[in-house]
Amino acid sequence: MFLDLNTPNDITSFTENKSAGKVNFNTTSSGDYLTNENFKTLRTNILFCGSDIKTIVLTSSRENEGKSTIAAELAKSLAETNRKTLLIDADMRKSVLLRRNISSQNFYGLSEFLSGQAELNRVLYNTQNPDFDVIFSGHFPPNPVELLGSERFKKLLESAKEVYDYVIIDSPPLGTVIDAAVIAASCDGAAIVITPGKITVKEAAEVKEQLIKSGCKILGAILNDIDAKRTKYYKKYYRKYEYTPSGKRIK
Ligand SMILES: Nc1ncnc2c1ncn2[C@@H]1O[C@H](COP(=O)(O)OP(=O)(O)O)[C@@H](O)[C@H]1O
Ligand SMILES: [Mg+2]
Repeated sequence: MFLDLNTPNDITSFTENKSAGKVNFNTTSSGDYLTNENFKTLRTNILFCGSDIKTIVLTSSRENEGKSTIAAELAKSLAETNRKTLLIDADMRKSVLLRRNISSQNFYGLSEFLSGQAELNRVLYNTQNPDFDVIFSGHFPPNPVELLGSERFKKLLESAKEVYDYVIIDSPPLGTVIDAAVIAASCDGAAIVITPGKITVKEAAEVKEQLIKSGCKILGAILNDIDAKRTKYYKKYYRKYEYTPSGKRIK
């Protein structure tokens, strides 16, 4: 299969403010374990990283460490302080944000945008908060790494920075697939989500190494103490989907 990644049209400007529609955005499946206080602290830490840190990727070593949940809550929390925020769901292999928010199969997301099948106004969604917009992952593409390493992805982030105060990017686990490091190469900063007691020090160090190699500034770690017993959704969902080292999704 051949995809010409160098010739897609110019990115339609975010300033035109045309969107594909509005979603009532849900950050989590349950939500009861999330405390606003934690996210206020995280938000404060991000705000103090400096005005040159606007595009931030969240990653972790493994799946189920809370990346997607934290990325969504952090983006929402930043928007609540009237900072214009864009959440990009860049886990094109297995998007939980998509499942939580879009039921139709007939929509476009990041994968369609990066492959030149859709322009910005088909993939940008407004939410209930006027300062909070989202680009969902789109359909599972055969070449996520290539798409995320493309000039079009870089340009997307550059033009987003002209309009948004923050762009928060969710990504797949770096211990399994390389996507997050490729994303990080186009970002101002990266934060590592860590589930204490669930991953080894070596695993955490490897994630850090990969991000350093990408040339991205590491902003710090976000500790997420997941209590699996409290999330009914957790087991049911994750038995079905796994990442494989090749990056292919298996059922
Ligand atoms: N602090 C937490 N306590 C309990 N459950 C959590 C916590 N953080 C995340 N979860 C739940 O764990 C599951 C995996 O989280 P998710 O954000 O999808 O992880 P990842 O994106 O790293 O794979 C979800 O069902 C989510 O609701
Ligand atoms: Mg995720």
